[in-house]
Amino acid sequence: MVDIAFTPGELEGAEIAVVIDVLRATTTVAAALDAGHERVLCCTDVETAERLRAPDRVLAGERGCEAIPGFDRGNSPLGFAGTGSGDVVLSTTNGTRAIIAAVERSSHVVLASLANLEAVLKELPKDDVTMVCAGTNGGMAIEDVYLAGIIAQRLDGEPTDAALIATRVASGYANHQEALDAGANARVLRETDQHADIEYCARESILDLVPQVTDSMPGVAIVTRAPARPLARSHNRSQSMEDS
Ligand code: MLT
Repeated sequence: MVDIAFTPGELEGAEIAVVIDVLRATTTVAAALDAGHERVLCCTDVETAERLRAPDRVLAGERGCEAIPGFDRGNSPLGFAGTGSGDVVLSTTNGTRAIIAAVERSSHVVLASLANLEAVLKELPKDDVTMVCAGTNGGMAIEDVYLAGIIAQRLDGEPTDAALIATRVASGYANHQEALDAGANARVLRETDQHADIEYCARESILDLVPQVTDSMPGVAIVTRAPARPLARSHNRSQSMEDS
């Protein structure tokens, strides 16, 4: 079965959950790991992130799409364009909370964005996958449904009605940029002069890595890069999740 929770609240339980927050949290986590940061500590709230503050850690995040006062960075993937090391502590309005909600109800959690789409598709089994859209403030976000539909189209399992709806959404746009531009989150990013982030988040498969949750504690999910797999390997996809 290939299923989709359009909001984190809809997720009842999953063997493999793929959390999607295209604008911008799951894109930013992938960019941070690609830059060389070892772990991203995804936090539900600002207070938890502050408690994890340490000299060798970068605090990043947003509320209302704008950087949190006192934090080192916002939630822009472009903020992680250089080389990084150590941990990033990240707290965002919807994305990091969706990751923690998925951890509470799933056996495996990976993070997807357009930026790492091909890497995610190589890692996933073809069936028994549930996409979890982060959405916005408890409601749906078009760009998350759009990517969930693209992933659902590329899997083989029987689609639920939710997956069928998302695949129709995915085929309803001419290109990624048009889909990402369509929704309320893009509007807020444009209004706050962060349109370059929308363009970055619309780029497909520019990051060859899969962020996965490897540990958690109350209010925090620890995300690292899944072990690299040979690109040419014709692997049993179920096995690849099981042996991670
Ligand atoms: C979120 O988690 O709500 C988003 O990533 C918001 C944003 O674009 O910064």
